[in-house]
Amino acid sequence: MDGGTVLEDAQIMAKRAEQAGASLIHTWAGWHESPKPMLPMSVPRGAFVYLAEAMKKIINVPVMTGGRINDPRLASDIIRDGRADLVHFGRPFLADPHFPKKAMKGDFDDINMCIACSRCFDAMTTRGPVVCSVNAGLGQEGNPLEKAEKSRKILIIGGGPAGMEAARVATLRGHKVTLWEKNDHLGGNLITASLAPHKEETNCLTDYLKNQMKKLKINIQ
Ligand SMILES: Cc1cc2nc3c(=O)[nH]c(=O)nc-3n(C[C@H](O)[C@H](O)[C@H](O)COP(=O)(O)O)c2cc1C
Ligand code: SF4
Repeated sequence: MDGGTVLEDAQIMAKRAEQAGASLIHTWAGWHESPKPMLPMSVPRGAFVYLAEAMKKIINVPVMTGGRINDPRLASDIIRDGRADLVHFGRPFLADPHFPKKAMKGDFDDINMCIACSRCFDAMTTRGPVVCSVNAGLGQEGNPLEKAEKSRKILIIGGGPAGMEAARVATLRGHKVTLWEKNDHLGGNLITASLAPHKEETNCLTDYLKNQMKKLKINIQ
């Protein structure tokens, strides 16, 4: 933005903060009104790591990066390659509160990744409760799914996101689920939604749900 703070300004500030005793410098750029987007899925993964790299060249305290890093393997690569010393996550923990545990175990396919749709921000700016497009359980972490009193046979018609999520939840609650899908693939409208330019992150949700169908051995016909 014309007249805004640029990297060179931030480097001067970081140097002074270090001299004043800061033990860590965290880097990120922009604000919601910036002409360059910060958060939507059109922003490439790891788009702000270059700021941490630039800081690391001029200061000695650890430097943190973050923003649009939704895959723990990318975070690990960034640290391994010395581009930053720490990585912070925001939305990935809304999308999947078990992200850290799954990442530590190497269960990457089991992580429900943030698709950077920004619905959580929309909810916040309209002063509603923060909601997440890929995690209907957001805010209910203290009330995990309970087993149903009686296990029932359930038929779900349609293997789009709603059908797969219903199948996942019903199975976790102890029901015996059959999922009918007329196509030879699962995903429904998510497949179409991912085709537009910059909407590729939508595939993360399709992949996650398909993987859950396999993991929970759901009978798909
Ligand atoms: C619902 C929500 C509200 C946020 N509010 C603020 C805020 O008020 N001020 C701020 O500096 N960052 C805010 N953030 C940004 C986070 O602190 C974090 O830096 C950012 O989400 C990191 O990017 P990531 O979500 O792609 O990991 C918010 C993030 C979310 C998801
Ligand atoms: S609503 Fe969920 S998936 Fe969408 S940006 Fe927010 S945390 Fe990510």
